[in-house]
This record gives sequence, C-alpha cells and structure tokens, in this order.
Amino acid sequence: MAIFGPKVASLQELFVQELEDLYDAEHQIVKALPKVIDAASAPALKAALAMHLEQTHNHVRRLEQVFNRLGAPAREKRCDGMAGILKEVEKTLREGQSSPIMDAAIIGAAQRVEHYEIAAYGTVRAFAERLGRSDVARVLEETLNEEKAADAKLTEVARQINSQATVAGLRR
Ligand SMILES: [Fe+2]
Repeated sequence: MAIFGPKVASLQELFVQELEDLYDAEHQIVKALPKVIDAASAPALKAALAMHLEQTHNHVRRLEQVFNRLGAPAREKRCDGMAGILKEVEKTLREGQSSPIMDAAIIGAAQRVEHYEIAAYGTVRAFAERLGRSDVARVLEETLNEEKAADAKLTEVARQINSQATVAGLRR
C-alpha cells in the first residue's frame, strides 16, 4: 500500500504512488509464482497458477502502458503488503511437502494474493475515474477482472482439492 505522508499532496500523486506500489507487487508475484507452481501437485492447480503467471506478465505490461499514458516513469515502490504475504507463502513451501494438504495451503495463500490485488486495482481504478482518466480506468479494469477470475478459478479448484485433503487426513 502507498505510504501516506505530507509529501503526498494530491489524489493524483497518491494515484501514481499506488500504481508504483502495484508495479512492484506484480513483479514480486512474477518472481514467486514459479516456486509455487513447482510445489503444487494437483494438475488443475498447477495449470491455474501457470495461467495466472502468464496473466501476471501481462499485468506488468498493462501498468507500463498506464504509466506511459500518464506521462509518468514506470517506477517500483516497495510493496510491503505483498512482500509479507509472499513471505508466508515461502514459509509454507519450506515447511511442507507436496500433497493435497500442501495444495490446500497454496490455494489459501494464492487467494490472499488475489484479494490484495483485487483491493488495490479496485482503488486505482476508482482514482482513475475520479481523475477523469476513464481510458486508464479501463486498462486497470481489465486486470481487475482477471484477478477476480483467477480468484474464482482457485475457489473452484479448491472444492476438488479440499475433498482430497480431507481423505488424506483421514488416512493418517
Ligand atoms: Fe496481477
């Protein structure tokens, strides 16, 4: 999340800060996802995550397009929120081995990532509208919709995996 301070004097500035924050968050996700895909075992989960990795590359490019339209340099501002979520993900991957239980944990983590992004893109889209930049709002909305779809996909995959995780638990 953007850090508030006396230096942020306008909604326009806050808007750009939030975009810089998201630009960093998306880069963090691009870096983290391959490890998560490796750790997942269910093919449906691997596929959903791999598809989202591809989309995330696109989200980075869309943000660059947004910076370009605003005439602002594409800068990354450290997103501590995403860093925190991804730190937890790494801990989960380190502590468990691939299994339906691990898959269930991965889905929980991936949905936290998605919800963070849904909140952040919802915010910047609203700022863009308010600032009279419906062209930029439309670009941000494309990504917002993909984040929502990725979240819904994970919910669907979870239904199948959580039932396997329950059976795995009963077998112990
Ligand atoms: Fe994204």
